[in-house]
Amino acid sequence: MWGSRVIRTFRDKRESVLWGAGGAVALAVILLSCSTTSRTILAPPSIPGAEFVGSEECATCHEEIVRDFRTATHARLQAKGDNAKNMGCESCHGPGSKHVQAGGGAGTIINPRKSPDTCFQCHLDVRASFQLPHHHPVLEGKMSCSDCHEPHKGIATKGAPTNIQQRLKAGGFAFLSRNETCFECHTQQRGPFVYEHEAVRQGCTVCHSPHGSVNQRLLNERNATLCLKCHFQEQRTAGHIFIGDVDHSTFLQQGTCWSAGCHEEPHGSNVTPLLRY
Ligand code: HEC
Ligand code: HEC
Ligand code: HEC
Ligand code: HEC
Ligand code: HEC
Ligand code: HEC
Ligand code: HEC
Repeated sequence: MWGSRVIRTFRDKRESVLWGAGGAVALAVILLSCSTTSRTILAPPSIPGAEFVGSEECATCHEEIVRDFRTATHARLQAKGDNAKNMGCESCHGPGSKHVQAGGGAGTIINPRKSPDTCFQCHLDVRASFQLPHHHPVLEGKMSCSDCHEPHKGIATKGAPTNIQQRLKAGGFAFLSRNETCFECHTQQRGPFVYEHEAVRQGCTVCHSPHGSVNQRLLNERNATLCLKCHFQEQRTAGHIFIGDVDHSTFLQQGTCWSAGCHEEPHGSNVTPLLRY
């Protein structure tokens, strides 16, 4: 899935890119050779003069991370052989020889928490989302991809099913959804509400584009379409829109469902099941 996305991204610049585990080397070369001719493709950040050493080297000192990494989404990029040496830890951290030689000294290896550029070498389309008018302030350096994503173990998007199991095994949570990641910073939306909106249980991303959006509040639709995705009933009379047995035809002309003074609390309400203040 991702492979085809990259190929699409690159098709603008180069006719074809053969993608495979070893193709990453070709990718790196292309990234470098494009850096002078293209405005959008950058060489991945790396420590000058350092070389790739392979993930086994990292295990000497970062045993736990290397051990757990087998379960990580990104471990699928790993392959055997010298040509794929750079596809483990160093695919994100850049060549590590200087870091290893220095016994782990500061400033000798890339830490992607400080800059998402490392991720964009492969997820270029994601950068475009963060450049939309409304976005989480990652490019501004106020947040990091790793606030929502787990690079080292399990499924890369925090709160996805694998993480739920892991946390339960540790004895922690009875129920954990992907929303937990969002609640760490957006406590108001957590509730509890007397009247919950079932849509929220399906996940914040039903209504919000987490990276960025052309719409305010990161909404994935700017008007009533957002709500009509789930709340649409067959028109019973020509020209009339019924939602929950109520004729909404004239309401929908007065603004969005949440801004027209009707359902101001799309996340849940303590006042009425109709999601109002
Ligand atoms: C000889 C021991 C040693 C080896 C080998 C080693 N590291 Fe480190 N590493 C350290 C120490 C010590 C630190 C600093 C203390 C800490 O954060 O654990 C560190 C820190 C880091 C950091 C954080 C740097 C920062 O600026 O925040 C990253 C990332 C990292 N190592 C990645 C790697 C990778 C990838 C490899 C394999 C290519 C590797 N390390 C190999 C010892 C080592
Ligand atoms: C998909 C990209 C990616 C890969 C692959 C990756 N890392 Fe990281 N690594 C990160 C990010 C992002 C951070 C910053 C995490 C944070 O602090 O938010 C990080 C932080 C670190 C740190 C410093 C902070 C900490 O958690 O101790 C070490 C050490 C480290 N990585 C080692 C490794 C090793 C060893 C491997 C290979 C087994 C590896 N990384 C593979 C993205 C990656
Ligand atoms: C060397 C290329 C490469 C780098 C660097 C990289 N990724 Fe990925 N990433 C991939 C590939 C390939 C996949 C798809 C893996 C699969 O599903 O088989 C992926 C998957 C993901 C997914 C899961 C996508 C999904 O649909 O479930 C997330 C989230 C993600 N990466 C975030 C990051 C972040 C954050 C960073 C930087 C810290 C990063 N990636 C760095 C190649 C990369
Ligand atoms: C505010 C939280 C948040 C931040 C910050 C964030 N992501 Fe995501 N990302 C998500 C969520 C949630 C999903 C799953 C979307 C879904 O299920 O519809 C996702 C999906 C993805 C995917 C797979 C789908 C896609 O859009 O391609 C990739 C790759 C990815 N993120 C990479 C990144 C990278 C790289 C960064 C940093 C530049 C980043 N994300 C920052 C929350 C975040
Ligand atoms: C690490 C903290 C953090 C996490 C985790 C986080 N956000 Fe945010 N969120 C922010 C910040 C910071 C802003 C920008 C606030 C601003 O610009 O005033 C923001 C803005 C937003 C906005 C727009 C708010 C507005 O008033 O326009 C929405 C919607 C949002 N986040 C949803 C989410 C969702 C959904 C998730 C989970 C996928 C999530 N956030 C995860 C910190 C976070
Ligand atoms: C049913 C759709 C829907 C779902 C699901 C949803 N939101 Fe929202 N959210 C909205 C709408 C609509 C607004 C705009 C409200 C406004 O502007 O008055 C909004 C606004 C926000 C804001 C901006 C502050 C505010 O309250 O106006 C944040 C932050 C936010 N949502 C976070 C989240 C988080 C976190 C989740 C998941 C727990 C979530 N949302 C789930 C529809 C939704
Ligand atoms: C993902 C699907 C989904 C989306 C999107 C969605 N809802 Fe809902 N909503 C539900 C479900 C399911 C219920 C509970 C069953 C029912 O009453 O229809 C519900 C219930 C409601 C109720 C309570 C109805 C009653 O009579 O108790 C209101 C009001 C409501 N939603 C408004 C909205 C608004 C406003 C939006 C857009 C911001 C929206 N919904 C978006 C699924 C959704």
